[in-house]
Amino acid sequence: MAKAHSQYVCQQCGYSQVGWAGKCPNCSTWGSLVETLIATGERERGKAKGQKKVEPISLTAIPSKKTSRLSTKISELDRVLGGGLVPGQVVLIAGEPGIGKSTLTLQLADKIGKTLYVSGEESAAQVKVRADRLGIKNKTLKFLEETNVDTIVDPDIFGIDSFDGPSLVVIDSIQTMTTDDLSGLAGSVGQVRECAFRLLKRAKEGNIPLFMVGHVTKEGTVAGPAVLAHIVDTILWFEGDKSLTLRLLRAVKNRFGPTDEVGIFEMEDKGLLPLTNAEKIFLTKARAEVPGSVVSSILQGTRPLLVEIQSLVVPTKMAFPKRVAQGIDPRRLEMLLAVLIRRCGLPLYEYDVFVNVAGGIKVVEPAADLAIVLSIASSFFDKPIAKNVMALGEVGLLGEVREVVAEEKRVKEAKRLGFSRPITQKEIKYVNEVVKKLLR
Ligand code: TYD
Ligand code: MG
Repeated sequence: MAKAHSQYVCQQCGYSQVGWAGKCPNCSTWGSLVETLIATGERERGKAKGQKKVEPISLTAIPSKKTSRLSTKISELDRVLGGGLVPGQVVLIAGEPGIGKSTLTLQLADKIGKTLYVSGEESAAQVKVRADRLGIKNKTLKFLEETNVDTIVDPDIFGIDSFDGPSLVVIDSIQTMTTDDLSGLAGSVGQVRECAFRLLKRAKEGNIPLFMVGHVTKEGTVAGPAVLAHIVDTILWFEGDKSLTLRLLRAVKNRFGPTDEVGIFEMEDKGLLPLTNAEKIFLTKARAEVPGSVVSSILQGTRPLLVEIQSLVVPTKMAFPKRVAQGIDPRRLEMLLAVLIRRCGLPLYEYDVFVNVAGGIKVVEPAADLAIVLSIASSFFDKPIAKNVMALGEVGLLGEVREVVAEEKRVKEAKRLGFSRPITQKEIKYVNEVVKKLLR
């Protein structure tokens, strides 16, 4: 079989050529040419001599295997992974620079032990500084400063043939890895894809879990993670406001577990600490009864979290009043304001309205509608809502309050945390009732 060579293949129309040009000569798409390895000879069509004959088998005839999971010993990471790592699982952990990806993977390497930590990003000395800061003393943690993927996938290094090969491999980051078979620069779509593929193949062969760090920019535009999305088993998204200490780890894809779980960490001077009692993390510590503040409960995976909605309603000086939404969808706010104007008779068209979710978390589910409506009304009437109130419900255009998912569970959890007065569709059927009852 002839040696494989690389060509630029258009991702739009499939046209291929040897050199790279800004735009595809065939379909005229800009930037769609990606360097790709082309296997030549017989193998290309899968006709090589001696190739095994395959036959489909009945699905019911496949013996069920119980997946054994390797606990990461980091409670919040286990939660996001769905109970731990599966042998050969390939995880991409993506996030903005400086969010804490290297910190988390190094802590994970320390906890699991017998880990091969490959850094193409930082030198041994730099990683050592971080390791000292994290207090890492694990002698079984091996470090390798390397960017050539073919060196890393060498069976001796990856240790798939040896008895005491690594229990985990960490690649920091996939954008720094290259193979000499392609001429593109590190971080180019072709290189990232090919390197990830070679690493993945090894991880699957050796049943070794593999963590790859991936970078994204503020706009999330780096090609890397998008290309990788289809290859890897699990994608964890690491996010948070870098100026704050709170970090959220979300599974956006997971072949071996749920995708709606969220791990909550705090970045301390000694690294990332899992926050297990995070239920009240987004609430102001000493909440006073101030007009415009209402607590609601949002669901992050299976865990209910209490959030505080804050509103400020002030007379407008403009022809078009301002509507500012932080942490909620601005269009949802417009809709809820229309409901308040029409169904409750509040003249909000003469007022600027500002709504904020305290703590910088984003609320995407409609379960917080009732709390938003109440908080706006509370600020409008300048009357506080009792401190122990927790409002939960979706508000429709007719002004009706609807039941939300896992309502019982959220109410129970809120009661446990001292919010003894839940307001839901059980008690209130229309928003004007609740405004009358609590504020007029
Ligand atoms: P890092 O893990 O290097 O981020 P990434 O790999 O995602 O680029 O961590 C970056 C930030 O975390 C850095 O600004 C310093 C801070 N940090 C702490 O606050 N505490 C610590 O113990 C460590 C190791 C880092
Ligand atoms: Mg890093």
